[in-house]
Amino acid sequence: MTGQKSDFSNIYVQPDPRAYYGTLARLDYEIPSHGTRVFGAILDTLPAEADGRAPTVLDVCCSYGVNAALFNHDLSFGEIHQHYTHLEDDDPDAVIAADRELFASRRRPDAVDFVGLDASEPAISYGLEAGLLADGVAADLEGGRLTDDQAARLEGVDLVTITGGVGYVGARTFDQVLDAVDEPPCVAALSLRWIDFAPITDVLDAHDLVVEHVDEFVVPQRRFTGAAERRFVMDQLDAMDRPATSVERGGRHAADLYVARPARMAEEHPIGDIVDALTDD
Ligand SMILES: C[S@@+](CC[C@H](N)C(=O)[O-])C[C@H]1O[C@@H](n2cnc3c(N)ncnc32)[C@H](O)[C@@H]1O
Repeated sequence: MTGQKSDFSNIYVQPDPRAYYGTLARLDYEIPSHGTRVFGAILDTLPAEADGRAPTVLDVCCSYGVNAALFNHDLSFGEIHQHYTHLEDDDPDAVIAADRELFASRRRPDAVDFVGLDASEPAISYGLEAGLLADGVAADLEGGRLTDDQAARLEGVDLVTITGGVGYVGARTFDQVLDAVDEPPCVAALSLRWIDFAPITDVLDAHDLVVEHVDEFVVPQRRFTGAAERRFVMDQLDAMDRPATSVERGGRHAADLYVARPARMAEEHPIGDIVDALTDD
């Protein structure tokens, strides 16, 4: 097997997200938009909603808070990217001030608290300063451990989400996160099909969550950067004995949905009903 996924690590460590939106918009990036739909459908089933308490979401590999930006505001990925075309020459402080204003003006009345976890300190700082994250933990839990203070900040989480992050993080991160949360939370992951999710499933299972993988819900992440990346993905899928879907054959990375929930919640809200509602949209 040769090649690898294209490396964009420099765009995740800037003081503001201009390079992130610019680079990924050119590749028709759409995974956070799918995440927003999926997370909304799962949040609708949470007891916290029924209790009238706004739920708290922990977004793992949150980067600059894109999932919080899309979920809590009347803004699309494309609109946020467009907003930056007028700020190309500004310094990061001016960009952050403009972003803060934009998000405050488009905040949805049903916004929920997002806590962000990411290894990138600048991305977490931006998310807090732009008003996207209620709290942020800058930590690499694949290589290190949550401090007591960081763990305490994850106690009240109701839903753990991840888009574009599986592969960067795996079982070690999920194990520590689930240890830190008081009541067993729900977990919703959109994970590239060519990355093995099984080690994370084992951890979710060990934390007494029912893990469901929804075969028929496959969404595009972004276009391949070129023939080499396409060949790499097809080779990985072959090695895993997973047939390529029409999304990969059409030139894009594809992501699967994994949902993990306490048994009672999985029984009360069958995953099939949640996915039906999503695919009817
Ligand atoms: C592809 S981006 C995904 C960002 C965002 N969730 C999205 O959907 O666009 C991957 C993110 O994972 C973060 N990351 C990489 N390794 C990590 C680790 N070991 N622990 C936490 N975050 C990590 C990077 O800083 C980056 O923000």
